[in-house]
Amino acid sequence: MDNRLIVALDIFDGDRAIEIASSLRELIFAVKINWPIILGAGPDIVRELSRHSRVICDLKLADIPNTNALITEKVAELGAYGIISHVFTGSDSLRAVRESGRKLKLLAVVSMSHPGGSQFINRIHEDLLAAAISGGADGVIAPGNNESLLSEIREMGRELVIVSPGIGAQGGSATKAVMAGSDYIIVGRSIYESPDPVKAVEDLNRQIHEGMAARSTRMNTFS
Ligand code: XMP
Repeated sequence: MDNRLIVALDIFDGDRAIEIASSLRELIFAVKINWPIILGAGPDIVRELSRHSRVICDLKLADIPNTNALITEKVAELGAYGIISHVFTGSDSLRAVRESGRKLKLLAVVSMSHPGGSQFINRIHEDLLAAAISGGADGVIAPGNNESLLSEIREMGRELVIVSPGIGAQGGSATKAVMAGSDYIIVGRSIYESPDPVKAVEDLNRQIHEGMAARSTRMNTFS
């Protein structure tokens, strides 16, 4: 099965996160974790979740190269699969993540899905995309609830891996996002707040596969 769904576990409770990850392991590509669970359960949660799934650490790094490199070193040591970094801080900051975490998949944020995204970051997505590529990113984050921006980013980088949040709670449709260019879909609340996360994931997988069947460009994959 070509699993394209990444589950965002934005919760504090490590045991609950492990329970969700282990129940979904055959149905998803990865889990994505963020500061809530790292602060709630401690950094070892990365190692523990890695026994059940690939783990992408969404730390949205936005610091000088040295600090980014130090954080990335620890994330790599904990056994993560990937890391998410901002790139508005410049290609040198992103390159520090690349060099410190050679084995990690590196995703750069070139646009955002919340309303404030249009205030600053989405206005400079072309420059951010160029910096992401020159900084050595394996993929970029682009909003699944903004199909016109998504299509534009797809057009600018045919070979890019595009990973998209903004589905469900933020209004986007997984089918439409994949048709517009997303290669992987991130969903949080619609899964972990569901009374039946397995069913929620099965429904989302169906929607993603509908989008894949209708898409005119090929799906890109992490190498
Ligand atoms: P929900 O609950 O909205 O969770 O399905 C979405 C997850 O994705 C993260 N997120 C983003 N990350 N750029 C990013 O890099 C974005 O535009 C963006 N929008 C949402 C969010 O932190 C949550 O984990």
